[in-house]
Amino acid sequence: MHAFDPSERTQDEVARFVKTVVTPRPIAWISTQSADGAENLAPFSSYNYVSLQEPTVLFNSPNGEPDELKDTARNALETEEFVVNVVTEADIERMDHTSAAIPEDESEFNLAEVDRGECETVAAPRVADAAVSMECTLYDSIEIHDKLMILGDVQYVHVDEGLLTDGKLDMRDLDTVGRLGGPYYTVSDTLPFERQF
Ligand SMILES: Cc1cc2nc3c(=O)[nH]c(=O)nc-3n(C[C@H](O)[C@H](O)[C@H](O)COP(=O)(O)O)c2cc1C
Repeated sequence: MHAFDPSERTQDEVARFVKTVVTPRPIAWISTQSADGAENLAPFSSYNYVSLQEPTVLFNSPNGEPDELKDTARNALETEEFVVNVVTEADIERMDHTSAAIPEDESEFNLAEVDRGECETVAAPRVADAAVSMECTLYDSIEIHDKLMILGDVQYVHVDEGLLTDGKLDMRDLDTVGRLGGPYYTVSDTLPFERQF
């Protein structure tokens, strides 16, 4: 077995290793709006849920002074709102396109030709045809080394009705996209083996 101490490798080597090992990662396609109304849409795969009874989700972005933050992080902190749109197979190309770095006053909704939907509890638009969108309000933000972890309480949910069976969302109907290491993506699919315990 090869073994190594991460502190003896370059930051790029360690990042590449961790992003290959922690896979597949879910993708939050996050829509936000700046304090002066400029909308933004970008994918974040350093994303997960934290609590469930009062659903709370998190994503991570590089930390820095406000003008150094990614637009998504700065908007979420400034407005205390963000929307997590779920990425399914039909969205891969448009989602990938929205990761392009474009000027703050230009919209990734226009760039990737993504239709906007209205939200109920937050000002930011949602992705109109996303399988699921979760409107969130800022719970907290935590500095972790060079990253900023942003946590949000889910306040309102939109689900594509065609995905519901007896009012419930079934995993077998939701082809969520995952991020792998390098430039690769995967799509969730169930295996013949099911959880036994
Ligand atoms: C699938 C995918 C996942 C990504 N995940 C993250 C992430 O977790 N954290 C991050 O800082 N950037 C992530 N990025 C890069 C951002 O999407 C990219 O920097 C984007 O331009 C940020 O946009 P913004 O400045 O409008 O917020 C990811 C990109 C892709 C394509």
